[in-house]
Amino acid sequence: MALHHVEHPLIEEVLAELRDQSTPPERFRLLSRRLTNLLAFDASHDLPSRVDKVQTPLEEADVKRLDAEVVLVPVLRAGMGMLEVMLSIFPKASVGYVGLERDEFTAVARQYYRKLPNLSGTFVFLLDPMLATGGSASAAVSLLKEAGASRIRLLCIVAAPEGIERLADDHPDVDVYTAAVDRALNEQKYIMPGLGDYGDRLYGTV
Ligand code: PRP
Ligand code: URA
Repeated sequence: MALHHVEHPLIEEVLAELRDQSTPPERFRLLSRRLTNLLAFDASHDLPSRVDKVQTPLEEADVKRLDAEVVLVPVLRAGMGMLEVMLSIFPKASVGYVGLERDEFTAVARQYYRKLPNLSGTFVFLLDPMLATGGSASAAVSLLKEAGASRIRLLCIVAAPEGIERLADDHPDVDVYTAAVDRALNEQKYIMPGLGDYGDRLYGTV
């Protein structure tokens, strides 16, 4: 598995505010979009393009057009905070949904929803801001592969070493793009220092 830790001063600036417990949900949602936008640039750097020509006001120019069928798959709930901005970058993308929820006590992810478009031959961006134990991401990738996906990249905002290792073991062919690699998980399997429960912070639940 290739891990891409995307490091940039603009990303650090957004992360600082996301981590801050006093950041309210409306600001948290805006920052989620901003950070996803910054990550998307790196995560899409190797998408294929085709050569084309356009007429400028002065002469004909050789140009390149994106030549990739993109599918966006947010993991409910928290991945929804990354979807809107990705759709604005890839307006022709199809969207699939995977609903996964960690058990409060065991931290094991349970699937409660799935709706996926055709995935064969596509470039799939799996959107989930938190890679903690890696159980949710691993289960989501398995679902995507069962549905025909072969080129999958995970966009996350904070990753723990445990989740990175789990995903590398289970799915070595998946590329992971993350804005932060944190220290470890605590006993409740939360990322430390992390930013708390992403879904709760995004939607103001507790
Ligand atoms: C969070 C997060 C990931 C998962 C990561 O979702 O959005 O999906 O935890 O943890 P893992 O790597 O240990 O599986 P959660 O289960 O809290 O659901 P929610 O988004 O609906 O709150
Ligand atoms: N899910 C979250 O939202 N936060 C964590 O720290 C771990 C899993």
